[in-house]
Formats: sequence, structure tokens, C-alpha cells
Amino acid sequence: MSLNGQDVGQTIDPAIRSEELRNLIAYHNRRYYQMDDPEISDTAYDFLFTELRHLEASYPELITPDSPTQRVGAPPLEKFQPFPHPSPMLSLANAFTEDDIRDFDERISRFIGRFPSPFPGGSEIIAYVIEPKLDGVAVNLLYEHGVLVTGATRGDGATGEDVTLNIRTVAAIPLSLVGNGAMPIPARLEIRGEIVIATPAFRVLNERRLEAGEQVFANPRNAAAGSLRQLDSRITAKRPLDFFAYAVGLLEGTAMKSHWEVLAALKAWGFKIHPFARTADQIEECVKGYRELYAAREKLSYEIDGMVIKVNDLSLQDELGAVSRSPRWALACKFPAHQETTVIEGIDVQVGRTGALTPVAVMTPVQIGGVTVSRASLHNQDEIDRKDIRIGDTVVVQRAGDVIPEVVKVITSLRKGTELPFVIPQTCPVCGSAVVRLDGEAAHRCIGIACPAQIKEHIVHFASRGGMDIEGLGEKMIYQLVDAGLIKDPADLYALRAEHLLPLERTGEKSAGNLLRAIDEAKNPPLEKLIFALGIRHVGESMAKLLARRYAALGDIMAATIDELTTIRDVGPEAAKSVVSFFQEPSNLQVLAKLKTAGIAPINRQFSVATESSGAFAGKTFVLTGTLERMARQEARELIESRGGKTTESVTRKTDYVIAGTSPGSKLDKAKTLGISTLDEEAFFKLMRVS
Ligand code: IVH
Repeated sequence: MSLNGQDVGQTIDPAIRSEELRNLIAYHNRRYYQMDDPEISDTAYDFLFTELRHLEASYPELITPDSPTQRVGAPPLEKFQPFPHPSPMLSLANAFTEDDIRDFDERISRFIGRFPSPFPGGSEIIAYVIEPKLDGVAVNLLYEHGVLVTGATRGDGATGEDVTLNIRTVAAIPLSLVGNGAMPIPARLEIRGEIVIATPAFRVLNERRLEAGEQVFANPRNAAAGSLRQLDSRITAKRPLDFFAYAVGLLEGTAMKSHWEVLAALKAWGFKIHPFARTADQIEECVKGYRELYAAREKLSYEIDGMVIKVNDLSLQDELGAVSRSPRWALACKFPAHQETTVIEGIDVQVGRTGALTPVAVMTPVQIGGVTVSRASLHNQDEIDRKDIRIGDTVVVQRAGDVIPEVVKVITSLRKGTELPFVIPQTCPVCGSAVVRLDGEAAHRCIGIACPAQIKEHIVHFASRGGMDIEGLGEKMIYQLVDAGLIKDPADLYALRAEHLLPLERTGEKSAGNLLRAIDEAKNPPLEKLIFALGIRHVGESMAKLLARRYAALGDIMAATIDELTTIRDVGPEAAKSVVSFFQEPSNLQVLAKLKTAGIAPINRQFSVATESSGAFAGKTFVLTGTLERMARQEARELIESRGGKTTESVTRKTDYVIAGTSPGSKLDKAKTLGISTLDEEAFFKLMRVS
């Protein structure tokens, strides 16, 4: 057999090879997802995958529903179709205390005693299986001859929704089952289990959503449910959905006698079984397991809300049957809720390293599951508005993922009318700069380049290779400089002297000298690098390049309007708004002026030749009077000069233009007397833009 197609001269039947590839990929999938023990590298796996994809592209008739290539999602559906479950999906009776658990065992004993059964007498010791009660979304998977044909949500237990396309994207769900001699695969088989998201994956998912300005999910279960009910399975495919099997529904032709054997079969067929699942020889062992699981709860990677006890013997299960849609042979033992009520005393606003303002509820301290909780992130204004959280409200708090405290909801019936709505501040609580919310983002952000909350991050970015590229100025050094109070904004770097650096850790004469030289040598970066270095939101390296291609000098970008910026290809309204607000912020203009004074003069080679001899400014003489709003006079001068114009102090007949800011002096009068063209600030910028 050839697995790699190296046999020269021998043509490989695509049908055979594609089946071979499907099996290989399914096998390695199982090693990776089910056993957590991969046998081959990701690259080798990708190789197999690519080969199969190519083969299927050439021979579409070879694509099978269980091909791993079908996991990536399909075009969106209009709506989900109803799916009547071949056998009903029951729910579980609840227990809340250890005595409830013992009562359950007694009920079963009595039941057995009352009816003729293989266990006469009714005082049997009953064997159980205990499993965690996973807090996710229950699904029913229908396999025919070992191939997944339908995946459906529970719905009302009788009819669910057909979410097969989404189910297929879940890597932990086998698209076809592995048979082996001991565990033959029934012709029709329903697998019951829980779609979940692991807590660490959930955190990453929410962080990404927050970063992208999307609404965060309240908990892993909501995230799993939301992902499973996507009409566009390509979105589902991107979510970290996982699956644990815990039961079978319809099971045709099997010799299995116990639930424990069922779990073993599920495992053999390729499903994940929760590692806590175990047999319990009698009810007191279940009680012990309940305590153990409760104690371990916080450390588990998947959220659980209790423990499930199931009678192990399948014929006894049959005999016990069900009442009002709950089997008599199973019990959900809930854990005490990790929820409490408390009062919101205030809402703090924290500024993160990237400038995002995060409102944080300050609450009357309350014990939840043995931990004192007094603060909880409210994420952003949208979340506060959605939950209508006001200062003074009585709220339900829980520890989501059993770790992070979270405000679940307001108990509105307890409102007194004195509660205060919260509105995120317009200026940064740390530095006073403007706070801006860009379209499509949930976060409000401080745009101050010198904001102390962000300064370390900003300077690291400023000095980075893509930015000013200051060699030898790494994160550690920057942190030391900031912590020592030596730099408060990027421009302070240029005021550093050797005597400042020498007292710092691991800084000798030589390294101090090297660093100062590197700082000095980086004073004339290409314009795009300076633009990138400023750390304007949505202005990455490629956006910075676009701007430098369009504008000759930084001042031109500073003067640009949103409308004008969006005429540049690939510059969207958010980026344009971000640029304009950045240059409107007075504290940013101050830092820019400081940078200029320190001698930072970017070069823009593509403009340096052409601008001097052509355009509206070439050879013209300008006089500036009054105050310009958008830039310092010195800067306006430089912009005029960079375009080949000249500036003088007094108005004469040789003057071509007088630029008048607010409260212009006598120069304006003189210009009028002499009939010289005058421009207000707006007209001046317009002229700059066309030249
Ligand atoms: S067995 C007839 N086992 O609990 C028994 N259910 O109220 C069917 N669940 O909707 C369920 N973990 O989503 C079973 N190990 C487990 C479970 C479990 C979670 C959920 C399931 C179902 C609900 C039953």
C-alpha cells in the first residue's frame, strides 16, 4: 500500500486514496481531540488535509458527508429545520442536598421491592455511575451505519432544531465512528451529550470580542448556545466548541448491560467522556463523589453545575422507567449556586494598557463560594445599558467560570428611585485626554499619547522596530525609565542624558552611551514610521504607509479631514475618525510639538523632490498672523517651506498670501490695503491639500 503516492508508475485510485485520507485524518483527529495525545505534527496533519482537499476539488463526487473537509462550515441557512428526535430527550429530576441523594436511592429500593424484579426484597444495594453535570448545550447526534447524519438541539425534548452543519464543525465530534470487534456500531444510533466551551478558551473568545468591539458572552454556556445556533456555520467553525458524550438514545441491537459499558463503548467509538465519570458501588459513594466534585469544581476546565447519578444496570433502568419526562433512574445533584445579591455602591473607571476604559462595579463585599467579591468588570457602556445597571442598584452577582465575578442582573423590584444611571466619562480619568468611541467598537478609549495608564505600552510601541526603531531600547529599559519618572511621554526620550541612565539597573557607561546614540540616530525616520510610532488606533504599518504615500508631511495629515482621508483607498471611516481625533487632542499636539523641538524630523522621500518646484506654494511668499487652531506657527512655516514657499514677518507688496488665524493683528489690515490675498485657516489647509 502506498500512503504517500511515491510509487512511480502506479496510478492511485482517487476513490481509494480519498477514503484512506479520510480515515487517516479521522484517526489523527481522535488522537488529538479525544485522547489528547497527537501522533503527528500539525504540519503533517495539514499535509494530509491539503491532499484530501485537492483530491476532492478534482473529484467532487468523492466528497462524503463525513469528510473532514466538510467541517469548515457551509453557506448560511435561512432558518433551522425542526428535527423530531427518534427517541425523546428526557430531563433530570433535581436534588440539592446530600439527603436528597439518599432519598433517591431509597425511592429506587422501594420501587424495586414493590414490583417483581430481578432484585426482590427492595433492600438492594444499588450500583450507580456518577458524572459531572456539564453546563453547556445538550444535543442529540444521529449516526446511521456509523456516519453522522443529523445533529440537533434538545428543543422541547420531542422535537429539536437541526443544526447538523454546525455540529459538523465541532472537531471533538467524530463524523464517522470507529468500530471494533468488541463494540460493533449499531445501524442507527443516537448519541447524547453536551456541547461546551472550556473556560480558558471562553476567556480568550471574550477577550477577542471585547477587542473587536463585539458584545461579550455572559458565560461559556451562553457562548456555546449562541455559537451552536448560528445560521452561518462558518462562524460556528471559528468558535472553540467541544463535546462530551454521556448517554445513548436509540440503540439498536446491542448486548450492553450497564451504563458503564455504554460509556466505554462511547469512548471506543471516538467520543470524549469526562474524566471524572466513575462507578459508585452504593449511594454513600455517590455522596462522597458529590463532595469531591464540588471541591474540585473551581479547578475543572469545563463549567459544571452539579453531578448526575445514574443507575448502572440498564435492565433496571428500563424497569424503573420515567415519570413526567424524567427518568426514575437518574438524578441531577445541583451545586449551591455561585450567586449572591449585593448593592452597587459605585462604578470606577479603569484605563487599560491600550487605552480602553473599563467600568468596574464597586459592590458591598459579599461571600460567593467562600471568596469575598467586591468588584466586577462591567466591560463597557453597552453592557451597562443592556443590563440597565445603575449606582445604588441591588444586583445578582456570580462568579462566572466560577472564578471571575460578574453582575448577572439588576433586581429592579428593589429600586427606590434614587439609583443613578452611569455614563462613561468624556475625558480620561487618568490623564484628562479626550475619550473616543470608534464606530463598531464597544470600548471607549483614551487617545492621549502621554496617558500614564498607557505610557509604557505607548513607548514600547513608539521605539519598536516598525516605529522609530530605536535600537537597544526594549521593554525592560522603557519600564525602568517610566518607573523612575524619567519619561512621561515619548518626547522625553530625547531629553535623556547619561547621568539619568547610569543609576538604572545593568546600565554602564558604555550601554548608556549606546542607547543615547541610538535615540539620537533615530531622529529622522521615514514618515510612515513616525506615523505608526504614534500608536493611533487603527493605524498599523500598512495604514501608515498609505498615509505617507498621500501626504508629504505630518502637518498635512494633521490637517486632513475625515472626508478627505476616506478618499484614500483602504482607509475606512473608523481609521479616518481615529486619525482626526488623535490630532485634535491638545495633549497629543503638545507631545508632537515637543518631538519637533527635540529635533524629530521625519523624511518622506517620495515627496522631497517634487514639492519644491510645483504646486500652489512654489515660489510664493506667505505672512502668518493671529493664532492657528490646528498647529503651531512654526509648523505652518515648515509646511509652507516644504512645499517650496517662503515665509516672512512683515507684509509688503511682494507678499503673495497673508494667512490669518484668530485675533489677527495689523498685518491683516495692511494686506487688505495692499490688495493681497488673505486666507483663513480653513482656506490655508485647503490650499495645502490641493498642492
Ligand atoms: S443524562 C435521561 N448526563 O442535564 C438523562 N445529562 O436535565 C439524560 N447534562 O439537558 C441526560 N451533563 O444537558 C446527562 N452527564 C450528564 C449531563 C447531563 C449535563 C444536562 C443535559 C440535559 C440536562 C438534564
